[in-house]
Amino acid sequence: MKAEKEMCGIVLAGGKGTRLGELTNVISKQLLPVYKQPMVYYPLKTLKDMGITRILIIVSSVLQEQLFYSQLGDGSKFGLQLSYKIQEKANGLAEAFILGEEFIGESDVTLILGDNVFLLNSKITPVKNTIFTYKVKNPSAYGVAKLDIYGELEDIVEKPEEFISDNAVVGLYIFTSSVIDVAKRIKPSKRGELEIVDVIKIINNEQYINVEEISGVWFDCGTPDDLLECAEYVRALTKRTNRDTLLR
Ligand code: G1P
Repeated sequence: MKAEKEMCGIVLAGGKGTRLGELTNVISKQLLPVYKQPMVYYPLKTLKDMGITRILIIVSSVLQEQLFYSQLGDGSKFGLQLSYKIQEKANGLAEAFILGEEFIGESDVTLILGDNVFLLNSKITPVKNTIFTYKVKNPSAYGVAKLDIYGELEDIVEKPEEFISDNAVVGLYIFTSSVIDVAKRIKPSKRGELEIVDVIKIINNEQYINVEEISGVWFDCGTPDDLLECAEYVRALTKRTNRDTLLR
């Protein structure tokens, strides 16, 4: 039997965090606190819970790389093997696969956004070519997936102005190393970014994409309200239950 390929992880913690205003003038949003730990600890814990320990963290500048390194080091204190890479400009989520080409090599790869906090009911077993959805009230703020009656991906649109579905596509994507070539083939969108939805569309056409609904709660901490709501939720959850949200 052919051995399963190793799965590596990429945490995308670049960007300028402009929606968080003065909070991110100096420090990346992914280092801001969410209750008792910096935000980036949550996606790292999600990856670790999936059994992924070899992880590349993509940050926005040399200064931020120094700050992330001061906080996390090589990851060994958490049982992780961390490396870092700089994304000079916010060229889009899909650029993570191009920047991570050498790191990924032949491995399968899970990309998680550094501002996404998952409080899952059950652990995710990584299955390649999988995206995850979460039903939201404000789908126009996210990538959105339209599914057919069999639950298969029919269409995916980044921040749709018109309603197509309430299935937000969360910032957790599992692919094979073939995603690197797909990312190289796409062109920047009107907003000048290599869009993850374009990568997903191509892979769905040429291979397949599984769509799984998240069982649990998901936050994207991109705005001051999201950040506060998420911290409040984590606080309430950890005070009322035995749920361990900490990266250790
Ligand atoms: C990004 C993605 C979007 C996804 C969201 C999840 O949006 O482009 O498809 O739904 O993350 O957090 P952003 O938050 O960077 O605007």
